[in-house]
Amino acid sequence: MYMNETLSILVVDDSRDLLELLRRQLQDLGMNPYISDNVLEGIEILENTEIDLLITDLNMPKIGGEQLIRYCSEHFSSIPILVITGYPSVNSAINVMKLGALEYLIKPFTADELEDALRSMLGAKTVREEVQTTAVIENFQGIIGSSKKMQHLYNTIQRTKSNRATILVSGESGTGKELVARAIHYSGDFSSAPFVPVNCGAIPDQLLESELFGHLKGSFTGAITNRAGFFQAADGGTLFLDEISNTSLEVQAKLLRAIQEKEVTSLGSTKSQKINVRIVTASNVNLLELIAQGKFREDLYYRLNVISIEIPPLRERENDILALLKYFNLKFSKEQSKSKLKFDRNALSALNKYAWPGNVRELENFVQRLVVMHDDNITINEIPNYMKSKVQLDKSASLSMSLKEVEKDYIQKVLSANNNNKTKAAEILGIDRKTLREKLK
Ligand SMILES: Nc1ncnc2c1ncn2[C@@H]1O[C@H](COP(=O)(O)OP(=O)(O)OP(=O)(O)O)[C@@H](O)[C@H]1O
Ligand SMILES: [Mg+2]
Repeated sequence: MYMNETLSILVVDDSRDLLELLRRQLQDLGMNPYISDNVLEGIEILENTEIDLLITDLNMPKIGGEQLIRYCSEHFSSIPILVITGYPSVNSAINVMKLGALEYLIKPFTADELEDALRSMLGAKTVREEVQTTAVIENFQGIIGSSKKMQHLYNTIQRTKSNRATILVSGESGTGKELVARAIHYSGDFSSAPFVPVNCGAIPDQLLESELFGHLKGSFTGAITNRAGFFQAADGGTLFLDEISNTSLEVQAKLLRAIQEKEVTSLGSTKSQKINVRIVTASNVNLLELIAQGKFREDLYYRLNVISIEIPPLRERENDILALLKYFNLKFSKEQSKSKLKFDRNALSALNKYAWPGNVRELENFVQRLVVMHDDNITINEIPNYMKSKVQLDKSASLSMSLKEVEKDYIQKVLSANNNNKTKAAEILGIDRKTLREKLK
C-alpha cells in the first residue's frame, strides 16, 4: 500500500477465525493489527493505544458493535470506522452510518475489497491530519502525488535524465503534461540550458514554421529582421512542443527533417545550422488515431515517441486526490492570506470518490473556488451535488447526510405533507408538539 508509517488498526469481531484472518491480511498490507473479540476490551484498546482505524462487527453477544461505534465517534472522532457484518440490511447500514461509521463491508469480503475500503478511508484520514500539521509537501519537481503510477512516472523521468532521446507525453486534459515536460528538463543534466515551450495549437500554421526554425530578413512579407527560431533558442536544452497534434503535414515534414538531420534551416536561408536539443512533445489526443486518418505522419510519430510517458488520469492515482487537495488548500489559502480550510470526513470521502474528468486542473480550480467562498469548515454540504451523485449510488456513502440533516429533511417532508399542521406532524413523527417546536427552531 501507499503508506509509509505503520498504521495501527483495531479489529473487533466475535469470530476468532475471522479475527485471525484479518490479522494476517492487515499484516500483509504492512499494518499493525490489534484484535479483540468483544466491545469492552475494544474500548480498552482504543483508550490505551494510538489507533488509526477501527474495524468492527455489528452483531456480537452481550454488547453490539453499535455501542462501540457510538463510543468511538464520540471520544475519538478522528478515527475512521469500517463496519463489517454478515447481516446486510439497508436499515442497519443507515443506522451505523448515522452513528459515525464511514464504510461498510458485507461478509464475506475479499482481501482486495478490504484493501480498497481501507485505502479510501485512510486517504481521508491521513490528509485530515496532515492538513493541520505539515508545511512541506513531498513532490517531484513540483509534481504532487506519490501513487504507484506517479512514482513509476518519476522513475521514467529519472532514467531519461542524461540523454536526449525524444519523449512523447500523453494524457487526458489537465493531467499535468506541461508540468511533466518541465520536470523532464529541470531534473535533467542539461537543466542550465534553456527550456523553450511552444504551444503549437496557439500559433497560426503559416507562422509556426518561421517561429520554429527562424527566418532571414525579407524571406516573407513582414520578415523585417533576421530572427532565430525556437529550435535555435533551445539549443543545448529542451524544446517542448505542446499540442503537437495541431501541426500541419508541412510543418510535420520539416520537423521530421530537423530531428533526423539534427539541423535546421531558417526560412529564406540556404545554410543549415547544427542544433542539439531534446524534443519533448505533448498531446491529449490519440496520435495513432490521427495517423489512421492521415492527419499525422507515422514516421514523425515514431521519431517523437522514442520514450513514451503516459500520465494517468487523476481518478486512477490512489490517494493523490487528497494530497493535491491538501497542496492546493495550502497554496490558495496562503495566496489569499486566509487560514486553511478544514475538510470533514464525509467531504473528503466524496471528493476522493469523484471521477474528476478535468483531472488536476479541475481539482485546482475547485479548491481555489472553495478557498475564496468559505472560511473554515468544509462539510458535505459545501460539496456540489454533481460531485456527490456517484457517491450516492454507493451503498456506504449515500449515507453522507448527518443525522441532523436527515431529521431536518424528514420533518420538513412530514410537515408539508400535512399542510404544516404541527399537531398532526408531531403525531406522525412520534414526538410531542413541544419537541417538534424546538426542533423547528
Ligand atoms: N501533479 C500535479 N501537482 C501539482 N499541480 C499539478 C499537477 N498536475 C497538474 N497540475 C496543475 O494543474 C494544471 C493543469 O496542468 P497542465 O497544464 O500541465 O495540464 P495538461 O495535461 O497540459 O492539460 P491540457 O491537455 O489541457 O493542456 C496546472 O495548473 C498544473 O500546474
Ligand atoms: Mg497542456
